[in-house]
Amino acid sequence: MNDLLIVNRLFKTYRESGSIVSAVQDVSLRISEGECLGIVGESGSGKSTLTRLLLALDQPDSGEVLLNGTSLFELKGRALRETRKHIQVVFQDPTSSLNQRLPIWRSIMEPLDNFPDVKPSFLADVRHSRRDTAAKLLEMVGLQAAHMDRYPHELSGGQRQRVAIARGISLSPKLLICDEPTSSLDVSVQTQILHLLKSMQTKLGMACLFISHDIAAVRIMSDRIIVMKAGRIVDQFASDQMMSEDRHEYTRQLVAAVS
Ligand SMILES: Nc1ncnc2c1ncn2[C@@H]1O[C@H](COP(=O)(O)OP(=O)(O)OP(=O)(O)O)[C@@H](O)[C@H]1O
Ligand SMILES: [Mg+2]
Repeated sequence: MNDLLIVNRLFKTYRESGSIVSAVQDVSLRISEGECLGIVGESGSGKSTLTRLLLALDQPDSGEVLLNGTSLFELKGRALRETRKHIQVVFQDPTSSLNQRLPIWRSIMEPLDNFPDVKPSFLADVRHSRRDTAAKLLEMVGLQAAHMDRYPHELSGGQRQRVAIARGISLSPKLLICDEPTSSLDVSVQTQILHLLKSMQTKLGMACLFISHDIAAVRIMSDRIIVMKAGRIVDQFASDQMMSEDRHEYTRQLVAAVS
């Protein structure tokens, strides 16, 4: 498989009230095209810091990120914008990622409105009409056209996260980053959302970086798993090796906590 994303020796520190927090320390990883890589770690282990670096929302102290061979932190202006459309994100809290004053269909259309030249094959039949495009995306994430004219507060948390996923897939990105996408939801809804994400990833052939503190959820989604602790990678393995004797002590603790 071809490498889609290569992360080389990323470091990021924050200064907080006089002390230095090493949020990401010497993180290197690779994601192949179409692959789902899981990252698991406790709160504060650096997962969201890594997300922000990969979205170029923040600059590292050192290290590089290559997307299809292009160095992300060297891009500016139009070139950065063009590259960004290939990496989309679903955050933990769908309420804050949706504009409360826009009806659902307008929120769903924002990414495509920003990139009118993008014509994903799954939208080939409907791309000429914005409302038909929104309806198609709603259907893909298990909602109905009837949800189109509602506002975010008129949907359940799970439905709002489906809308966030519709936005995330709308540009047919090469990589979808999911940062704790189920952590704000009821347990029964979490499973539905995981299965939706997995089926979208497979159907669209997207690579995925799936981030969670829940190793059971990460295992459902991922081909490979990286375990982070205090900003560092402490273990990495193919998902079917999660129970192997070779696992790091910390990985075993995470497994024991959910079984
Ligand atoms: N903007 C910031 N300013 C100062 N410190 C920060 C900032 N962002 C993150 N940190 C610190 O960096 C460390 C890693 O935080 P991060 O949010 O990446 O962890 P996380 O693994 O995503 O945690 P969670 O599971 O709670 O989402 C923490 O110690 C956090 O306090
Ligand atoms: Mg986080």
